[in-house]
Amino acid sequence: MNVTVFGTGYVGLVQAAVLAEAGHRVACIDIDEHKIERLRQGHIPIFEPGLEPLVKRNNESGNLTFSTNAPEGIAHGELIFIAVGTPPDEDGSADLRYVLTVARTIAEHMDDKKYIINKSTVPVGTADKVREEVTRALAARDALHLEFDVISNPEFLKEGSAVADCMKPDRIIIGTSENASEQKMRQLYAPFNRNHDKVIVMDVRSAELAKYAANCMLATKISFMNEMSVIADKVGADIESVRQGIGSDPRIGYHFIYPGIGYGGSCFPKDVQALKTTAAQLGLEPEILNAVESRNHSQKHYLLDKIVHRYGPDLSGKTFALWGLAFKPNTDDMREAPSRVLMENLWQMGAKVRAFDPEAMQECERIYGNRDDLQLCGTRDSALSGADALIVATEWQQFKTLDFEMVRSNLKDPLVFDGRNLYHPLDMAEAGFEYYCVGRPQ
Ligand code: UGA
Repeated sequence: MNVTVFGTGYVGLVQAAVLAEAGHRVACIDIDEHKIERLRQGHIPIFEPGLEPLVKRNNESGNLTFSTNAPEGIAHGELIFIAVGTPPDEDGSADLRYVLTVARTIAEHMDDKKYIINKSTVPVGTADKVREEVTRALAARDALHLEFDVISNPEFLKEGSAVADCMKPDRIIIGTSENASEQKMRQLYAPFNRNHDKVIVMDVRSAELAKYAANCMLATKISFMNEMSVIADKVGADIESVRQGIGSDPRIGYHFIYPGIGYGGSCFPKDVQALKTTAAQLGLEPEILNAVESRNHSQKHYLLDKIVHRYGPDLSGKTFALWGLAFKPNTDDMREAPSRVLMENLWQMGAKVRAFDPEAMQECERIYGNRDDLQLCGTRDSALSGADALIVATEWQQFKTLDFEMVRSNLKDPLVFDGRNLYHPLDMAEAGFEYYCVGRPQ
């Protein structure tokens, strides 16, 4: 099928590459000329396992093209995805400017039936706004006879496993009330829907809300466990035992109940905030979402509280080794990362940071530039050199085994603050380490 994808961000690029790999002819359109030029040369703007070869291969075969020419893209695609950004507005609601601009552009240039598919995470009611925008622009050119439908098809990929998630989706939600649209979408996704039917068809608004509900539910699970970890700390229980004890109940499950120092990334914080705003605009008080957000905020300070408790509020003269900058492993993304709250507060209290991350070093440099109190170190081990203590902020695989002797010989004191519960308190005690983690007795 001929498909056009507007927006070559995370969602758009991965979706386009995966559809091209399945044999569809996909045109990617973006307004950023530099980005398009780089993509043509095979440079991927994000770190995402498996994406680069997929893009290169399909670009070379001609199944995947990149351009800034919107009219050409619109002529090409019978199905047109809108996958442009929806940054949060000042009041926390999603800014739909880019989505609606694409909708208008499609209407200004289309000359046959188009299936317009909302892939960006957008508030409930956006498909209707897109429909209005298209109708208005068609009317302006006297072209209301041209048919179109607006379909909601939310994306559920995770950063770090985006390609795999798209190749093997656990659900394909199609929000439409038109039979023709459902059939087109089923045809599009047929290569990904082989063994059992993963397609769930519903009305547009339910599809839009399902996306927010999924992310907010996951954020709720995490915040709930984070709150339990604080209680566990106070009552002297071990949150890891509690996690296993509750996860074994299939109604609760083992997924997404790992306590830590708060969720980050471009999705959970933004989506919780956006759904809160939607609720508030409707006169509702989103009590659970408020609590989820507030717990996440406190949790990002939880390890800092332990540091202050250990050293006092004046950290001048202290240096901390920080392992992990990305908001989670297998990505270079530092948006809303707990590491940022840690570093910024440590600096404010006068401390210096020696940081290492397997992928996010460049991103960290881009965000913070050169500063005296931040040393970006080339390896995990060199970050430790001369530091007073080690802080672990991201659970990268390579941090999971601790070479006690190496750590001890590099640090001034054998002291670890672990925001991801990577090590066992008993092993740490046996090795002579002072060890602080989340919700486990020392
Ligand atoms: C999330 C959702 O998982 C995807 O399904 C969704 O498609 C995506 O948002 C989106 O809306 O685009 P992502 O932001 O890539 O994906 O990251 P996750 O793997 O979900 O992790 C989010 C955060 O939760 C991370 O900061 C992670 O450290 C934290 N987390 C996760 C925990 O603290 N504990 C857990 O048990 C699991």
